[in-house]
Amino acid sequence: MKSFDPAPSSVGTASYGPLRPPEISVVLPTYNERDNILVAIERVAATLDGRPWEIIVVDDDSPDGTAELVNDLASRDGRVRCIHRIGRRGLSGACIEGMIAASAPIVAVMDSDLQHDETILPKMLAAIEDGEAEIVVGSRYVEGGAATAGLSPVRAAGSRLANGIARVLLGVRLNDPMSGFFMLRRSMVEKLEPKLSRQGFKILLDIVASAPRSTKVVEIPYGFRERVAGESKLDELVTIEFLALIVSKLLFNVVSVRFILFMAVGASGVVIHLATLRGAMAVPGVVFEMAQTIATVVAMTWNFFLNNWLTYRDRRLHGVAMLRGLVSFYLVCSLGVVANVGVASALHGADQVWWVAGTAGAFVGAVWNYAGSAALTWRV
Ligand code: GDD
Ligand code: MN
Repeated sequence: MKSFDPAPSSVGTASYGPLRPPEISVVLPTYNERDNILVAIERVAATLDGRPWEIIVVDDDSPDGTAELVNDLASRDGRVRCIHRIGRRGLSGACIEGMIAASAPIVAVMDSDLQHDETILPKMLAAIEDGEAEIVVGSRYVEGGAATAGLSPVRAAGSRLANGIARVLLGVRLNDPMSGFFMLRRSMVEKLEPKLSRQGFKILLDIVASAPRSTKVVEIPYGFRERVAGESKLDELVTIEFLALIVSKLLFNVVSVRFILFMAVGASGVVIHLATLRGAMAVPGVVFEMAQTIATVVAMTWNFFLNNWLTYRDRRLHGVAMLRGLVSFYLVCSLGVVANVGVASALHGADQVWWVAGTAGAFVGAVWNYAGSAALTWRV
């Protein structure tokens, strides 16, 4: 067998001399940031000048061609890389992939739309290197920081409310836990990664809530800038995802954000089911069995579209794939009914009270629907 020869090769020493390994990797997530990303890279590079650095852009196949732009730069400067993700969407997931792919011992995450102030990066780096902090946060809500330029009054109020919820429910002692601007050691990310949710926007909150209580977190103020080019991707669903993340953390990560969202959709489906049942029974000539069948189909359809919009927003099905998905969802849920009734009848036969048997059956059916639709409908 040919043994691996670890002797230095010409790789990395080519015409530009020995490569200094990066001391810091900056992760820049992008979705449609073609007018911002090159400026963001340039500014980060200027700020970190004198230190060996690496920049990892994580792009979710932006239709505006952001990845092509970055790859073109990467072909000329080896310190810049692009992770081009296909078929996946989501800020948290993109940040996690970028941090895990980093080669420096310290990683930072920063928005690529120029709203974050890159000039505090050296201060953040110093705080980690000096051992003053294990996680450093670029903060809008400490003395010297500001959020007003970059947030509308409604967003600012929402941001403060979310901060309050996170502080009270999760015990996060941070003034700006919703910040998307932070730095920590890669080893810490690797340790926490199994606990982190890939869904949503709140990756820092997730990291801080998942880290040991004794972790030293330091906030460094900066002024959140106004977005000049492109538009924000934060929408109404982010609030729902945020609440699901809080629930997941309160349940000690036993259930995923996706599972919580799926169950919430299921609960709304029960309401739709009962409302339809009542409505259908009011129609003259419609017998109960008929009404129940109609209500079941309506509720399944409701659940499918709501899950496709919310629970699986990162893998939304469209067009023909959506129709195929709907059919497979009906199929999975039909088997879920069989499992539900089977379990409930067995328990009821074994002398369990009716509501225990009923609830257990419904729960088994719901878990079946979750697992079955994940595998067959959205194919995770
Ligand atoms: N790869 C990838 N995938 N990147 C994304 C995605 C996605 O699905 N969605 C957004 N991004 C990138 C954007 O391109 C931008 O660089 C950065 O993530 C932040 O997205 P914005 O859409 O500009 O978010 P924002 O400015 O409204 O929200 C900011 O403030 C929030 C607190 O108020 C962000 O910093 C959030 O992280 C922060 O929670
Ligand atoms: Mn932004």
